[in-house]
Amino acid sequence: MNVTQVKFEINGKAVDVGVEARTTLADCIRDDLHQTGTHVGCEHGVCGACTVLVNGEAVRSCLMLAVQAQGEKVVTVEGLSGDDLTPLQATFRKHHALQCGFCTPGFITTAHALLTNEPDADEDRIRDVLSGNLCRCTGYVPIVEAVLEARSHYGRKATS
Ligand code: FES
Ligand code: FES
Repeated sequence: MNVTQVKFEINGKAVDVGVEARTTLADCIRDDLHQTGTHVGCEHGVCGACTVLVNGEAVRSCLMLAVQAQGEKVVTVEGLSGDDLTPLQATFRKHHALQCGFCTPGFITTAHALLTNEPDADEDRIRDVLSGNLCRCTGYVPIVEAVLEARSHYGRKATS
């Protein structure tokens, strides 16, 4: 087995991990780095459950090889959390925007990337961005409501 050492940052911590060339970032995060908040559903880039942030952009970690993370800054859903619920976690809870929770890390990371870059995103924009994430439990209305309400914590200026 050929192993390549990959150095990158995950949730603010430098890591140096040996991976096979075929190892996905998702598998590396879960199996090697034990950050199991990143979920793996379809493994084909369809469901969005595995979404993490790479240099602030939402990325499907099942479609990225671990070796491609060399030198990058990766943030998983664990990295967004502190002692208290984050604004998105709080609004997801308030709006009952999850049931089994399998999809939730992907929605949270995707929405966080969106609102960080576009705190004034309107409902159409939020729906458009979240349309790439699948939830088979809750339905999408409470998820959109939760993201809409969380905008004020990201510096939203508009009143729409
Ligand atoms: S597991 Fe990556 S998009 Fe579904
Ligand atoms: S809450 Fe179960 S898949 Fe979304």
